[in-house]
Amino acid sequence: MNILILGSGGREHALAWAVLQNPKCDRLIVAPGNAGIDQIAECASLDVENPSAVCEFCSENSIDFIIVGPEAPLAAGVVDMLKDAGFLVFGPTQAAAQLEASKSFTKEICDAAKAPTAAWTRFTEADPAKAHIRQHGAPIVVKADGLAAGKGVVVAMDEETATRAIDDMFDGAFGSAGAEVVIEEFMGGEEASFFVLCDGTNVLPIGTAQDHKRAFDGDDGPNTGGMGAYSPAPVMTPAIQQQTLDQIIKPTMDEMARRGTPFAGVLFAGLMIEDGQARLVEYNVRFGDPECQALMMRLGAQALDLMLACAEGRLDQAKVNWANDHALTVVLATRGYPGVYEKGSVINGLDTLPETSSQMVFHAGTTAKGGHITATGGRVLAVTARGASLKEARDQAYAMAGQIDWPEGFFRKDIGWRAL
Ligand code: AMP
Ligand code: GLY
Repeated sequence: MNILILGSGGREHALAWAVLQNPKCDRLIVAPGNAGIDQIAECASLDVENPSAVCEFCSENSIDFIIVGPEAPLAAGVVDMLKDAGFLVFGPTQAAAQLEASKSFTKEICDAAKAPTAAWTRFTEADPAKAHIRQHGAPIVVKADGLAAGKGVVVAMDEETATRAIDDMFDGAFGSAGAEVVIEEFMGGEEASFFVLCDGTNVLPIGTAQDHKRAFDGDDGPNTGGMGAYSPAPVMTPAIQQQTLDQIIKPTMDEMARRGTPFAGVLFAGLMIEDGQARLVEYNVRFGDPECQALMMRLGAQALDLMLACAEGRLDQAKVNWANDHALTVVLATRGYPGVYEKGSVINGLDTLPETSSQMVFHAGTTAKGGHITATGGRVLAVTARGASLKEARDQAYAMAGQIDWPEGFFRKDIGWRAL
């Protein structure tokens, strides 16, 4: 079959790498892709947030199956138009993508589904929001309602920080995403990610992971899109996975179906685990980046079969074949990220690294220029390895990262510390 993947990050490189291992894939196009993806598949320039442009591209290229990587095309309704045009597609509709695109929408669904999550209140004006903060005190969490590229959340340890966040959001720091603000109870505990496929009716768990959101070692520094991840996450015991399915995910799916907007695609539940119980922090309606790199390395070729079963509504017959393995990914980012950074530095040493089914350098913000790979983004590479133990995976990933010659880049040295 002819397959199109939308996106250009490390997540999409990992998806492409897994899909290509499956003999069902005859031709793979990734739009827009990056320099690493270009080494294994065809890359095409395409405005992936323009539904009609994507539909036209799929018709012209006889595409049989479309996998949507990032949230923006989902929120733009790309899946709706593709489905209306009769294409088979992996990803939720615009209405179902609200689970990520609107914090207050998700909170309403949680309330209706009686899913455990932080207590919350919605505000459209600054003064009542500040009064709420004074009344409840810190720590407290302030969130812009809409999509803000992962930056619209302020976990405030004091009232002043929370109040300042209210001013920033209503002053337009996040554009229309901050027109509404949700204030939440602060939850303590350990965070973990749980990935399930949903076809509107059936739910199939496909893995757990833990991300490292802060820029620097020791979980210090500013929040990023994620500096490394590993799978599985030991904190997600079988009992906690079952509780999450029974109390959070399945009731959410039932509520979405009841509203006439069933969810189909991958649901990424961000959870806070405390005293053996999971509470929902947030949903994402796509694979995590860099969690996807670790998950794809563990799933390999079967990832395509699972995504097809999901899109065709037959997850009840699908099964995940688990190897008893571990995968870990270390993100190399440009110095300065997540703040300001220079673009265009040259990365050397990549061609000497072996790429196998248990070790890969996935590319994110890279371009090929004059025979060199250059860095064009904040997060640039995701060095990923698989092993019989987490320690083995980590040692292998760091051995590879150490061979990359890129003075303008940096990476955390402690990915996996919590589990090790
Ligand atoms: P979100 O974009 O909703 O995932 O929030 C980003 C990060 O903020 C999460 O990964 C958590 O680390 C933190 N966070 C969000 N909501 C809460 C909460 N209610 N209590 C504690 N931490 C939170
Ligand atoms: N790594 C977190 C995310 O993809 O949202």
